[in-house]
Amino acid sequence: MNIFIAGGSGRVAHYVIEDLIAKGNTVVAGCRHPETLKASESLKPVKMDLHATVEDLEKVIAGCDAVYFLAGSRGKDLFQTDSFGAVKLIKAAEKLKINRFIMLSSMFALDPKKWNEPGINTITDYNIAKFFADSWLEKNTTLDWTIVQAELLREEPGSGKIVLNPEHEGPVSIPNIAKVLADVLDMKNTYHKLIMVKDGTTPILEALEQVK
Ligand SMILES: NC(=O)c1ccc[n+]([C@@H]2O[C@H](COP(=O)([O-])OP(=O)(O)OC[C@H]3O[C@@H](n4cnc5c(N)ncnc54)[C@H](OP(=O)(O)O)[C@@H]3O)[C@@H](O)[C@H]2O)c1
Repeated sequence: MNIFIAGGSGRVAHYVIEDLIAKGNTVVAGCRHPETLKASESLKPVKMDLHATVEDLEKVIAGCDAVYFLAGSRGKDLFQTDSFGAVKLIKAAEKLKINRFIMLSSMFALDPKKWNEPGINTITDYNIAKFFADSWLEKNTTLDWTIVQAELLREEPGSGKIVLNPEHEGPVSIPNIAKVLADVLDMKNTYHKLIMVKDGTTPILEALEQVK
């Protein structure tokens, strides 16, 4: 497949791109500063700003078979990038009938009752932004979506083991969340599913195969 990644120069995208290319896919990596990425036969960095119109985003993702939303503003531009940027990219994918859409989001973003829990209670504005983006994808589209939610992303080697849909938040290593994102691409049992992930004890593929 030829796969578009919004936020293609980010920490998570780095590992997702590695995983997707290793599986034989090609990747178009979109961000505002594509010069930070090294182009190759399998990787095409492109300039893309989520402030753009739906029509302009369509031009950037045209020719792709699936779309990942791995972009984010680190709290600096939540409305335009994390929330409405995602909605516009979703709309662009729908217009072009690129049906597979995978969203990286924040754990419990769709469950405001949990937003006072330690570990999450300092990122409410971010959770609100993701609440609207995730809700849009879940309720207002015909896409084959998967939402993968994580809490604290840790820069450490991946254990290859996770727990899905935990009752309480907890960290996940960036290579682990990246492998989840890459693996769900063609797993039909993860279509139309919200999957919360933290580091745990079950091998990633085994955990994902249990998603019903
Ligand atoms: N940090 C956490 O603990 C945590 C937890 C759960 C979920 N998440 C989510 O995971 C996402 C990925 O994490 P990460 O650590 O890989 O993030 P990151 O390293 O900060 O990467 C963010 C990406 O978004 C791009 N971007 C930012 N603003 C943009 C815009 N207006 N238009 C287009 N691209 C834009 C950046 O590239 P340019 O600057 O070149 O545009 C970069 O490629 C986060 O954004 C967040 O939503 C994070």
